Amino acid sequence: MERIALFGGAPVLDNRQHRRWPAVTSEERESVGRVLDRGVLSGPLAPEATAFEAEFARFVGAKHALLTHSGTSALHLALVAAGVRAGDHVVVPAFSFVATPLAVLQAGAIPIFADVDPINGLLTAGQAAEVLTPRTRAIVPVHIHGAPADLSSLLDLASKRGISVVEDAAQAHGALYQGRPVGAIGHTGAFSLQSSKNLGAGEGGVFVTNDARAAQLANEVRNFGQNVAAELDTFDSSRPLDGTRPLDSLRVGWMYRGNELLAAFARAQLRRLPERTSNCQRNAERLASALGELPGVRPVRAPVGSTSAYHKFRVTLDPREAGVDLPPKMLRGAVIRALKAEGLEVVLWQTVPLPAQTIFQRRDGFGGGWPWSTDPETDFGSMYDPAHFSCTQRLLDGSIVLFSQSCPLIAQSDDIVDAYAEAFARVWRHRRDLAIWAEREARADDSGG
Ligand SMILES: Cc1ncc(COP(=O)(O)O)c(C=O)c1O
Repeated sequence: MERIALFGGAPVLDNRQHRRWPAVTSEERESVGRVLDRGVLSGPLAPEATAFEAEFARFVGAKHALLTHSGTSALHLALVAAGVRAGDHVVVPAFSFVATPLAVLQAGAIPIFADVDPINGLLTAGQAAEVLTPRTRAIVPVHIHGAPADLSSLLDLASKRGISVVEDAAQAHGALYQGRPVGAIGHTGAFSLQSSKNLGAGEGGVFVTNDARAAQLANEVRNFGQNVAAELDTFDSSRPLDGTRPLDSLRVGWMYRGNELLAAFARAQLRRLPERTSNCQRNAERLASALGELPGVRPVRAPVGSTSAYHKFRVTLDPREAGVDLPPKMLRGAVIRALKAEGLEVVLWQTVPLPAQTIFQRRDGFGGGWPWSTDPETDFGSMYDPAHFSCTQRLLDGSIVLFSQSCPLIAQSDDIVDAYAEAFARVWRHRRDLAIWAEREARADDSGG
């Protein structure tokens, strides 16, 4: 008789067969070695960084790209370059990584959370419209897990209100919205190069835009507020630290530049990204088709007309459709235990809407409650009440993410992905026994056993 691994059967997969990410080949080693041989390690106009920027801009169909030291810093630049100022309101989805609203705070602005589509976790124009205020300066759609948000309706809404759309494309390198790469479809956008991302290079980010003025402003903010463009004609690539730009800060700025080792590594990764992305998408579609056959199991797919980069592979579980009498969170927990026992990588990633996080409940900000204190008329305590974000909470309670940050889908071979389908189907055949086990475990926990 078949037994799932949680109940003593042999696991479908030896977990050690997963490939770690990012994949480091001789190309990355040679690229980084080339930088060390050259001896130029940094500088706003250093050769690897500028080459990467040109290549990445081409990849996402943007006129301008700027390498930064993180996706969060790229997003901060994107907000400032889109016109966000201290005290403004900026709409962000309640379902994202905390860097999205933190970048808003770093710009001195106030994040206003909107609930998301309960099926795919994306911000819709309708939900954004519900939370607009007279102080709203920008909307930040997040292409969560690599699936594009509906940019056309968000841009329509923004243009009617005279505000900007800033794309958080941290997870969405190569994702397509109506056939166009995301990132610079809005006014400005940001990508992350943190290791788990489909384009991973340790830590790093990229600011993108088609607007020359926004690019210049972002470049200044990236470099202590200095006018980097002033040295374009006189820059000597052999002496990048002896720049000729005036050391006069024109505006508030930070040091958000990337470095040459990061740029060289990212260039090597970028060369392989199109092929890796299509392989990842093919595997994701095959896995989604297989899992979609199971009652109550729904892989999250990109909306019609767009193509996900499948940075994360989320699966929702509906106990009613599956015919098991368990609350969603309990089913979720039991399925994670069972799949992990089969050798799979399974994570939850976020578990609550962003406004439930301590920073937004406390709102201490930069001390004394700034920037919230600039807006005494708004009751943020009520606005940030997690109860307002029931679609986000429902999605998170009733879903799991297959694969992990260390071993994401894009890193895996076809065989590993097929083993996921097999393991899931096996666990699902035993879901009623799993439900009985989960209830027994809960009772034992309750009685302290
Ligand atoms: C949606 C989203 N936005 C922003 C970021 C921030 O990127 P980074 O970690 O490179 O600063 C991340 C990173 O995980 C992210 O997932």
